[in-house]
Amino acid sequence: MFNIIRPGLQRSLIRLHSGCRGSLRSPMENVLSKRFVHLSHNGFGSENAKIPCMISQAHWSGKIGWEVGSLRGLRQFSSSPTRATKAEKSESGQEKDSETSSKSSFSEIMQMLKLAKPETKLMGLAMLFLCVSSTVSMLFPSIIGKVIDMTKDDSTDCIKIFNREIPLVNFYVCITITFMVGALANFGRVVTLRRVGERLMARIRLRTLKKLFYQDATFWDKQKSGDLISRLINDSTVVTRSLTQNVSDGLRAGISGLVGISMMFFISSKLTAYMCLMFPPLIFLSLVFGRRIKALSKLIQQQLGSLTRVSEEQFGFVKTIQTFNNEAHEVGKFKTEVKKLYDLSIKEGQLNGYFYGGTGFVGNIAIIALLSMGTYMVKAGELSVGDLSSFMMYTIYSGSSVFSLSNFYTELMKGVGASSRVFELTNITPLINPVTGKKINDIDGDIVFKDIHFKYPTRPHHTVFSNLNLKIKRGEHVCLVGPSGCGKSTISQLLLRFYDPLEGEILLNGHNLKDMSLSYYRRQVGIVQQEPTLFSGTILENLTYGKKDATQEEVIKACQLASCQEFIEQFADKYQTVVGSKGASLSGGQKQRVALARTLITNPKILILDEATSALDTRSEKAIQKTLIQRQQKGQTTISIAHRLSTIRMSDRIVVFNHKGEIVEQGAFKEMYADPQSELNKLLSKNEGKDSTEEELDEIEEAKKSGN
Ligand SMILES: Nc1ncnc2c1ncn2[C@@H]1O[C@H](COP(=O)(O)OP(=O)(O)OP(=O)(O)O)[C@@H](O)[C@H]1O
Ligand SMILES: [Mg+2]
Repeated sequence: MFNIIRPGLQRSLIRLHSGCRGSLRSPMENVLSKRFVHLSHNGFGSENAKIPCMISQAHWSGKIGWEVGSLRGLRQFSSSPTRATKAEKSESGQEKDSETSSKSSFSEIMQMLKLAKPETKLMGLAMLFLCVSSTVSMLFPSIIGKVIDMTKDDSTDCIKIFNREIPLVNFYVCITITFMVGALANFGRVVTLRRVGERLMARIRLRTLKKLFYQDATFWDKQKSGDLISRLINDSTVVTRSLTQNVSDGLRAGISGLVGISMMFFISSKLTAYMCLMFPPLIFLSLVFGRRIKALSKLIQQQLGSLTRVSEEQFGFVKTIQTFNNEAHEVGKFKTEVKKLYDLSIKEGQLNGYFYGGTGFVGNIAIIALLSMGTYMVKAGELSVGDLSSFMMYTIYSGSSVFSLSNFYTELMKGVGASSRVFELTNITPLINPVTGKKINDIDGDIVFKDIHFKYPTRPHHTVFSNLNLKIKRGEHVCLVGPSGCGKSTISQLLLRFYDPLEGEILLNGHNLKDMSLSYYRRQVGIVQQEPTLFSGTILENLTYGKKDATQEEVIKACQLASCQEFIEQFADKYQTVVGSKGASLSGGQKQRVALARTLITNPKILILDEATSALDTRSEKAIQKTLIQRQQKGQTTISIAHRLSTIRMSDRIVVFNHKGEIVEQGAFKEMYADPQSELNKLLSKNEGKDSTEEELDEIEEAKKSGN
């Protein structure tokens, strides 16, 4: 009975296991290969039986390990008190936290299962195929038993099934047809399940990404891109695998177990009753270990996330690392993360070892006990040899099923862990919803900041504005100046409603910003950031990012306004020049001008230039000055933030801030510049300008004279 499978077949079955995680196995192959490994090698439930799963797991982790993120980072971004508590917990003891959360496993499982709801029909079809293929494969032991018993009687070429004599030829034809049906069902199951899996994964990923883009700035201030990539790529894969392949494997195990036990009852109820004694310890072991594996696999996911974060940062700053000669230090940093992951994986390996060792021992003892009891019954004439053979095969089938069910449980727990990480993203409600609110078009009036009190949510102890009042008239070009960190960029952040003020309100042409639909409003406002952010496509793609349907004339016009047409025309590929990652193949000034043209192409009613021309030469700056004058003539408002005198002097009105974010002076450039005591001059003397240089020289001369 133990030599049914040829070694060649056995090898190929094991290969099938390791390569495909069972998804391409037929139920028959599945059971046969398991049976062979269990019995012919190291006995029932040996560690070898787990090899396929382990190999595939390693292969799988290796494949997408870089894209994995950490739970800790994501927990930190939550603004709700519950999540803050969770984050604290995760820092004080992640494992403990995970174990505690396992109590809510049932609701988590249900929440995860709901993800597959839209696939119910296809899943149902896959399960139907599965039932057919599993039932067919469960006929196998029975057939073996019948064939063995037939050898007792050489004179007949009939086989006895349900007390009916069936000619052997008919029997084999029926069996072949049945197996063909099984093969077709198996094909249907694999294809359908794959389809369900891919649809599910695509939906989870898209849903998560969509949710992410609607999150507010506070969320983004706290998140780490490695964590988000992890949830998008890795966790969605784990969840999908858990919901499709794993559910299918679990169901197949359930069917095999049920059919197997029923057949065993049919053959010998007495032996079956004994056999059932081995189930409780196996189920107990799988429950205990399932929980631990869930906790551990969550930690492994987190650690993979840390690894991603470290490497992501390292790759992003290679030049800085090389400049500071810190290559060895960075390798060390990465090594520490790798070591942590290694330790966790070893721990998981040990846990698996205990589990499979324990269950294997219980299984092997049960088989030997059943075999000896069965032999005794054969001798006593209570059972035929064929029946005993069938019974033992069903025992192995059912044992394998219980075994698979335990694996199903641990895989399900992994899925639950991963889905909770995905849900942490999709369940977050943004503090500022960009789509709700009135679609207000007439914002081209005055901009009023009224009694604004503001602190960044991530830095609640630092007040940026305590009572800011600022009015900007329609068509005005206002320049905000002040020491670094005084809150100039924060004004643009508030005006784009990335954050809400704690107190006070921002009014645009009398409309409260909080009442407006942000997605609609932001189309009318343009900002060129302090750090120009270009995408890795061509110049043209970057230019038309805010207006996909821009005509060639519009593109050229915007480039002229931003003084970037000349240098673009000089490139061999002109507008089709690829700018590299983050625009790396352009100079600082070129990047600024492309970014400016990208904003100007949208012809915004309000334009914010946050140090947007800081890297430009005088010629380009003058060209842009003309553009700003044209805007003014059209009644379009411009707010510029600047440190450079050449930029500051372009504006109609200058608003000077002190380091506390208070407005200390405002007025026209000429008057303020002419007054040596003005705050503007004090600031300029700190920053740049002839005056400062002369003062500094005087100071140096004085110091020299006094001998210091
Ligand atoms: N996203 C943020 N989260 C927390 N604090 C922030 C954030 N952005 C800015 N800050 C803090 O708010 C204060 C004002 O910053 P802001 O960027 O507005 O300064 P700024 O006047 O534009 O300075 P600079 O001239 O250097 O650009 C600073 O103390 C800064 O550290
Ligand atoms: Mg700034």
